[in-house]
Amino acid sequence: MAVENIAKHPIPAGFENAHAGPEDYRKLYDESISDPEGFWGREGKRLDWIEPYSKVKNTDFTFGDVSIKWFEDGVLNACVNCVDRHLESRGDQTAIIFEPDDPEAEAQHITYNQLSDRVNRFANVLLSQGVMRGDRVVIYLPMIPEAAYAMLACARIGAIHSIVFAGFSPDALANRINDSEAKAVITADTAPRGGRRTALKSNADAALLHCSDKVRCLVVKHTGDQTTWVEGRDVDVKAMMEEVSPDCPPRPMNAEDPLFILYTSGSTGRPKGVVHSTGGYLVYAAISHQYTFDYHEGDVFWCTADVGWVTGHSYIIYGPLANGATTLMFEGTPTYPDAGRFWAVCEKHKVNQFYTAPTAIRALMGQGTEHVEKYDLSSLRLLGTVGEPINPEAWNWYDKNIGKGNCPIVDTWWQTETGGHMITSLPGAVETKPGSATLPFFGVNPVILDPESAKVQEGDPASGVLCIADSWPGQMRTVWGDHQRFMETYFQQYKGYYFTGDGCTRDEDGYYWITGRVDDVINVSGHRMGTAEVESALVAHAKVAEAAVVGYPHQVKGQGIYAYVTLMNGVEPSDELRKELETWVRNEIGPIAKPDLIQWAPGLPKTRSGKIMRRILRKIAEDDYGSLGDTSTLAEPEVVDDLIDNRMNRG
Ligand code: WTA
Repeated sequence: MAVENIAKHPIPAGFENAHAGPEDYRKLYDESISDPEGFWGREGKRLDWIEPYSKVKNTDFTFGDVSIKWFEDGVLNACVNCVDRHLESRGDQTAIIFEPDDPEAEAQHITYNQLSDRVNRFANVLLSQGVMRGDRVVIYLPMIPEAAYAMLACARIGAIHSIVFAGFSPDALANRINDSEAKAVITADTAPRGGRRTALKSNADAALLHCSDKVRCLVVKHTGDQTTWVEGRDVDVKAMMEEVSPDCPPRPMNAEDPLFILYTSGSTGRPKGVVHSTGGYLVYAAISHQYTFDYHEGDVFWCTADVGWVTGHSYIIYGPLANGATTLMFEGTPTYPDAGRFWAVCEKHKVNQFYTAPTAIRALMGQGTEHVEKYDLSSLRLLGTVGEPINPEAWNWYDKNIGKGNCPIVDTWWQTETGGHMITSLPGAVETKPGSATLPFFGVNPVILDPESAKVQEGDPASGVLCIADSWPGQMRTVWGDHQRFMETYFQQYKGYYFTGDGCTRDEDGYYWITGRVDDVINVSGHRMGTAEVESALVAHAKVAEAAVVGYPHQVKGQGIYAYVTLMNGVEPSDELRKELETWVRNEIGPIAKPDLIQWAPGLPKTRSGKIMRRILRKIAEDDYGSLGDTSTLAEPEVVDDLIDNRMNRG
């Protein structure tokens, strides 16, 4: 459906007392753009500072001189803001509800007092292993409370955490440990998920074979499953937490000291270490959690993301805990033991705000509404989505069956690089349109540029690439160890702007519609994947000569991974080889990178200078080869006919 034909959904009843109504939003937004110093100077005070800041904003998007600083002379500690400062007023309130994978196992309610005790102890364990301020610590943990303790413990002592999603392979883990030159890795024995167990510790063992032998391995004995044990290197975290002191003084950190590194995929090369700051990031996570989800004292907030992704950082841990909320951590999957699990958990813990990815909604939609109808979802006030564009069909299903037509849906567009929400509706302020992220958040100045001329597209409607005209506090500060790459990736192509990598349309009402990535990044089940990463995994296989990977529309995943593979001379294609390559990629990167379709390609379409014409490969993968465009610059136009004849995605 054309976007102009999608009607607005009014603001549901019950949001009259939201943090922002329609007029507040306009007023605050306008102020945040015309007077960022004034707006953020005030909003920064939502945190507790050890030394107050006198400067608010000092940012420069000039290519070659990019520098981003917020609250630069302020001193604070992120852990104190998420834990200590709540102890007096809400020490006995639940900070974290932990819902285990096994629905029969007991949920844990961890109060702020208990959180404080465990974080302090965890911090002392880190200190005892020689981890110091500024050191990097890689966290390779499942969705268990210890992941939260580990993050906050790092923040407490000024160590920089870098979480690696527990679904990543030993190779991917090793690359990140080495790139960040981490001093320690924190892992667990095994990780239950969907009734199965991943051998995390043995993955970590395999990774550490490729790392400095000085890296310590801190093991959380979560399931008690047997693992190997390397004396002198491995540390039993839980046992040690019992021995150390429950007091660990927080280190005063500068607002611009890095809080964490999170590796993410780009269009080229290896994943980049996105660096986030202590002050600006935390202010931004806290304000966006409060306004976007209309969080009020006492609410139970559930974000179903994994802490291995930025969504888990900002909206399971830092945003909610900075606001003194009760945040739910779920170890399991949406379909175990059955497709009603999300709704069972919502009923059980009386969840008020529920935040998930469109891919999960589409998967559950396919399982029918009988899994939903069994549960009482009356505690829900608000629903959210993140990670990829949501198709109106999924939006409407979510609205009708989960929200019962009474819950606003906030469709939040943002990125690992942005730290928090950038374009989203605010529930009491903005009428929604299914499929549109609607309007910018405070302090965010989006512009749409023509991709070729780089001219700003004024007026509505407009289409082009999405850039941001000025800095906001949650913006990433640099790529770990490579500021040049940071500038080249985000500030070179469109001078003076932050380039998001997304395409975008703005409709007559000024609403933003994200149309997807315009670079070689694909979005598979809401997980961001660089096609170059999958290609380099494929060509690392001895039988593969060349590979090209593109995305194609997938019913449930949003995008699927389509790989064109040219085999070495003399190697015969077969179904067994296809399976072998799938397993190979799983092992090289992780299950999320497994190609959905592999097409044997005797040749790939290339320009005369040898560049693969991805545009053509994308069209064939989309089964839209009638509109291939100009193929006259190809070196061997006949390879295209073969690829079309043997395409894997028909219809
Ligand atoms: C996509 C996840 C449409 C987008 C927070 C972006 C979205 C990339 C939305 C970042 C949304 C995220 N609507 N597209 N609401 N949210 N995206 O870094 O292409 O894992 O550039 O951050 O996901 O993915 P990342």
